[in-house]
Amino acid sequence: MLSEAKFNILKQISGEFSRDETIWASGYLAGLAGAPVGIASSPQVPHSQSETSRKITLAYGTETGNSKKLATELAGIIKKKGIQVKLADLSQYKPKDLIKEEFFFVIISTQGEGEPPILAKKFYDHIHENELILNHLKFGVLALGDSSYPQFCKTGEDIDSRFEILGAERIIPLKKCDIDYEEEARHWIEHVFEVTAKASSKPQLSSASKVATGRKKYQGKVSGIINLNDITSDKETYHIEIETDESISYQPGDALGILPFNPRNVVDEIISLTGIDPEKQIETPKVTASADELLYKHLNISYLLKTTVAHYAQMTGHHIPETRLGLLDLLRIYPIKNAEQFEEIITILTYQAPRLYSISSSPEAHGDTEIHITVAKSEYYIDDQKQNGVCSGFLSQFREGDHLEFYIQQAKHFKLPQPDKDMIMIGPGTGIAPFRSFLWERDATGAEGRNWLFFGDRNFISDFLYQSEIQDFLKTETLTHLDVAFSRDTTQKIYVQHKLEQKAQEVFQWLEAGASLYLCGTKDPMSKDVEETLLNIIQNQGKRNKEEARIYLEEMELNGRYAKDVY
Ligand SMILES: Cc1cc2nc3c(=O)[nH]c(=O)nc-3n(C[C@H](O)[C@H](O)[C@H](O)COP(=O)(O)OP(=O)(O)OC[C@H]3O[C@@H](n4cnc5c(N)ncnc54)[C@H](O)[C@@H]3O)c2cc1C
Ligand SMILES: Cc1cc2nc3c(=O)[nH]c(=O)nc-3n(C[C@H](O)[C@H](O)[C@H](O)COP(=O)(O)O)c2cc1C
Repeated sequence: MLSEAKFNILKQISGEFSRDETIWASGYLAGLAGAPVGIASSPQVPHSQSETSRKITLAYGTETGNSKKLATELAGIIKKKGIQVKLADLSQYKPKDLIKEEFFFVIISTQGEGEPPILAKKFYDHIHENELILNHLKFGVLALGDSSYPQFCKTGEDIDSRFEILGAERIIPLKKCDIDYEEEARHWIEHVFEVTAKASSKPQLSSASKVATGRKKYQGKVSGIINLNDITSDKETYHIEIETDESISYQPGDALGILPFNPRNVVDEIISLTGIDPEKQIETPKVTASADELLYKHLNISYLLKTTVAHYAQMTGHHIPETRLGLLDLLRIYPIKNAEQFEEIITILTYQAPRLYSISSSPEAHGDTEIHITVAKSEYYIDDQKQNGVCSGFLSQFREGDHLEFYIQQAKHFKLPQPDKDMIMIGPGTGIAPFRSFLWERDATGAEGRNWLFFGDRNFISDFLYQSEIQDFLKTETLTHLDVAFSRDTTQKIYVQHKLEQKAQEVFQWLEAGASLYLCGTKDPMSKDVEETLLNIIQNQGKRNKEEARIYLEEMELNGRYAKDVY
């Protein structure tokens, strides 16, 4: 810290600085102090306004590819208008380069429970954990999200407000977009074009504009539910068939979204433990309903966010270490004073998040009033007690004739290729779901392209999901190639990536001949291991170096020939 006298001198001198001089001086001082470049430092002066006013960076942070696809399209639009645009993937972007930017626009989605996409987390953490000086930066954020989630567009909001705190100038208000973002995004880029063309330095109001959308809800009735695993398996995976009265509009590759209800016994225990009147009407920002209905149908009570637990600690006066846990456990370990206090606690709970399930039926083969999903009952342990995930537990208890509400989540990136094109599908476990849909659709439409499936699970006998259908597809040659890996049938564990490796030459030949590549199933570690193997195959078979292999796969992704749905 400076003494008051020195501070006054600094204030007096810096008061006469121009904006560029201020930036230069801050870099100079930090340089003297030996601070790392980019963190409150950098002796590098940004280019003058006249040199760079028409050069912008469009950065994206993505998980399933929407932001990347959008950023690429929008960059094309403004390039056509004669503005230089640098497209930057936040997973590769060096935050210290922010000091060199003048116009910096971000397109970023929100994932998990209000978290940044995994690959953009490093950037997100860096700007939040470091006191960067960004006074020279003009910025704008387009946030992609889904208003069904409690933390709608949270990552975009966070970046927008953090840039402002770091001194950057918001030249276009935060735009929060819902699932049908395309048109709004095109308006946004027009706006970006206008403000950068004018190189306006007037700050804009930060009022976030939200695109309001309604999502079509379908009322369904369960027409069949079976556990696809054998009784000897330690897993349960449910094939669920749902029928509707009205026709459902979806395409293979899309997912079904559902808002689960919480376990009835847990809600009853919470009510009895807190003494709250279950009929008491309580107002929350989005829903006003009885305490019982809120706890059962609308609020997340199973695995509270750290921020909710911290809020609970503040309200109840307990000292609670940073943690996540279920509401019932929280109430047991850190009791509340009385039912009135619990009424207040209810208002700080977040809403239940929808869960997505890849649709495993095909509209062509199964008709438009029937839809199938493939649900693995998720299990975890608390104090040696087996617990089930909220939604998979909820769905596994459905019986024929039970009713449920759902919606369709379009997967814009995960679509069948042209009928004459070949495709390679990698889908162990429930990753098989969209590929069952693809195969049924190709079978029903008589598509000529060749189809190669890589499937894997634990044991051949008990875990070969949809085995008889897959064998039928082989017989009818809808499925031209099949490779399976059952990890627990052999002493050395064999996974789908090992099967890919064994067929490396043929896999690469397919890719070179224009085949599309799909990957679906668990994110960690499966999708990472498979992608690593794919890169090795491209490198070794295609005689490319690591970077060239990455670009090869990235180009396939941009051209819509490589798509992943991993979770
Ligand atoms: C595009 C997409 C497609 C998908 N397709 C499929 C599909 O076809 N089939 C499929 O089965 N799934 C699919 N999923 C995953 C699915 O959406 C759900 O995430 C999955 O069913 C788990 O949800 P859940 O409510 O059962 O578990 P949750 O209740 O959300 O729990 C998930 C995990 O959180 C942890 N957890 C929860 N509560 C606690 C607690 N109190 N203490 C400690 N840890 C806790 C546990 O590790 C638990 O396993 C897909 C996801 C996406 C994004
Ligand atoms: C598992 C999962 C969690 C999500 N969580 C949120 C969320 O908390 N808030 C939100 O606004 N959107 C959420 N979304 C929606 C995504 O932000 C939205 O689908 C976006 O278009 C994805 O863009 P991307 O492909 O660039 O990652 C979630 C989506 C998935 C699949």
